[in-house]
Amino acid sequence: MCGIVGYTGSREAVEVLIGGLKKLEYRGYDSAGIALQKNGKLIVSKAAGSVADLEKTLEDRFSNTQAGIGHTRWATHGRPTDQNAHPHSSMSGDIVIVHNGIIENHRSLREWLSGEKGYSFRSETDTEVLAHLVEDNYDGDLLEAVRKAVAFVEGSYALVAASSHEPERLVCVRKDSPLIIGIGDNENFIASDIPALLSHTRKTCILEDGEFASVTAEKVDFYNEEGCPLEKEIFEVNWDITAAEKGGYDHFMLKEIMEQPMAVRETLRQRIDVKKRRVDLTELDSLKNELAGLEKIYIVACGTAYHAGLIGKAVIEKLAGIPVEVDVASEFRYRNPIFAANQLAIVISQSGETADTLAALRLARSKGVKVLAITNVVGSTVSREADQVFFTWAGPEIAVASTKAYLTQLVALYLLAIHMGESRGYIKPGLGSELIEGLQNLPGQLKALLSEDNISKIKTYCDHLVTWKNAFFLGRNLDFPVAMEGALKLKEISYIHAEACAAGELKHGPLALIVEGLPVIVLATQKAVLEKVLSNIQEVNARGGAVFAITGEGFEDIDRQVENVFYLPPVNDIIAPILSVVPTQLIAYYTALAGGSSIDKPRNLAKSVTVE
Ligand code: F6R
Repeated sequence: MCGIVGYTGSREAVEVLIGGLKKLEYRGYDSAGIALQKNGKLIVSKAAGSVADLEKTLEDRFSNTQAGIGHTRWATHGRPTDQNAHPHSSMSGDIVIVHNGIIENHRSLREWLSGEKGYSFRSETDTEVLAHLVEDNYDGDLLEAVRKAVAFVEGSYALVAASSHEPERLVCVRKDSPLIIGIGDNENFIASDIPALLSHTRKTCILEDGEFASVTAEKVDFYNEEGCPLEKEIFEVNWDITAAEKGGYDHFMLKEIMEQPMAVRETLRQRIDVKKRRVDLTELDSLKNELAGLEKIYIVACGTAYHAGLIGKAVIEKLAGIPVEVDVASEFRYRNPIFAANQLAIVISQSGETADTLAALRLARSKGVKVLAITNVVGSTVSREADQVFFTWAGPEIAVASTKAYLTQLVALYLLAIHMGESRGYIKPGLGSELIEGLQNLPGQLKALLSEDNISKIKTYCDHLVTWKNAFFLGRNLDFPVAMEGALKLKEISYIHAEACAAGELKHGPLALIVEGLPVIVLATQKAVLEKVLSNIQEVNARGGAVFAITGEGFEDIDRQVENVFYLPPVNDIIAPILSVVPTQLIAYYTALAGGSSIDKPRNLAKSVTVE
C-alpha cells in the first residue's frame, strides 16, 4: 500500500522525508513525491519509479526547508505516472496533500468540483478531490479546512495536508488507514508506518479512526471528529527495523494473512450498491455487450491463481449459468483451445507479470476473444494488455506464498458471478442479495476467524504435521479447489509433500497411502455432500490417519468422528471457500515455522515468474 511521511522541525526536511520514504520502500510502490514549504510557497516534485528517481529531480531549491510531506504511491485510481503521484496540489498551489486509501465518491465530487466550483484537475486520481476540497474550505485554519473537507468524503483515508499560509504546520486525519505521529524534541513526524520513524524517535501516538492531529515542531494537538481536543497516550516502540517492517509480525506471510479482513474490504469497496443490494460493476461497462451474449468463458492462470479460477468456474456456472473451462496457463496455449464468438477469457494474476498467463492473454486476444484481467498490480503488463481490468486492491503482497491476493481474487470472482447472474436474470431470486450480505460480512468474520484461540488449535496440529513428510488434503465440490490450494501452500513453504484429493477419489488409489498418524486435512463445508465426506473421514479413521477437519457451524456431527475440528463462522456454503482457505494458510505457516524453513522466501521460488 502507499506510504506517507511528514516532518516539521529544524532539520533539513528534504533529507528526513527522503530517508523516511526509503524506509517504506519494502512495501512496494510505483511512484514517489514530496512537497516542501519554501519562502511562503509550497514546492513539489514527483516522479514515476523509485525514490532514487525522485531524488534525481530534486534541485538545490529543495534544500533549506524545515517542513514538508512525502509519499510513495501504489497505483489504484490512475496509472503510475508523474501526474498521478502524490502530493496533489490545489488549484492555487496553496494546499498540498498526501493520501492513502480510496475515496469512494470521488466521481461525483470531481463532477461537482470541476463543474459548479470551477476547479480544474491535473491527475486521474481519486485523491485530487481532497486537495480541492481542503482549498475550498480554507479560511485561515488548516485544521478546520481538513475537518470540513473530509465531511464530504466517503471511503478510507490517511491524509496529511499542508498550507503555504501556515508554513510550520501539518494537519492529518485517518479513517480505515493507519497513521502514526512520531514525537521528537522540538520536531515532530507523521508516518503511515513505524519504520519511517524509527531512526528519529520511538515515541509515537497512533491516530484512531476519525481523529485529527495538528502538528508543529513545538507541539502536537489531537482532536475528535467534532473538533474537541483529545488526550492521547504516547506509545514507546520497542521493535527493531525488521520487526517494524513486518508490522511486528515475524513474517510478511503472517502479516498478509492478518491483513485479509482489510484486503477483502478494499476489494468490495465501491462494488456493492448497498441500497439496492446489488453488485455494481460499472467498471466493466466496456464489456457490457460481450457479457450479455456470453456462451463460454475460459479462465486461465497459474498456481494459486489457478485455484481461484477453479472456484470461479464453480460459482459462475452456478450463479450465471455460463459454461466455464479453467486452464493452467502453461498448458492453455499448447492445447489449441477452440475459440469462437461469444466467448470471454478471464486471466487471473496477482503480479500481472506471469509469462505463461501473459502468453494466454495474447493468444486469446489474437483470436478476437476479449480478455478480462483480475490482477492486483496497476500498471502491470497484464493490466495494460487486457481489454478490461478488475483490480483486487489487496495492497502489495511481499511473501512469495500468496494469501491475501488469493482471497481477493476469490472475492472478485464472486462479485463477477453475481453480477453476470443478475444481469442475465439467471440467479435465483433472493440469492444475489443473500450472497452480497454474505460478502459484506466477510471482513468481520475473517477477523473473528484469526483469533488467538483458533490459532492455538492450529498450532497444536502443526506440531504433529511437521513430523511427517507427507500429508493429504481432502474435499468435495467447492471444497476440492480449497484442498488444492491448502496442499500447494503447505508444499511451498514447509517442503512437506502434500496431495489434494477429491474425497470421493480416495478409495480409487490414494487410500493405499493412509497409515497410522498420517496428517489428513479435510474440508467439509458443503452441506449437500456432508454425509459423503463423513464416510471419507471414516475411511481415513479406520486406517489411523490424523484428521483435522475444517467445517461450518451446524455440522457438529463431525465432532463424534474427529478430535481436531476447526469451525468456521456461519456462512452460505457458496461463499465458504473464502473463509475455509484461511485455516489452511495458517496450517502451512505454523508447520513451516515449526520446521524452521524460510517462510517468506521459500527455496527455488520467486514472487513474479516472468519466464516460461
Ligand atoms: C503460490 C503462488 C503462486 C502464484 C503463481 C501465479 O502461493 O503465489 O502459485 O499464484 O506463480 O502468480 P501470479 O498470480 O502473479 O500470476
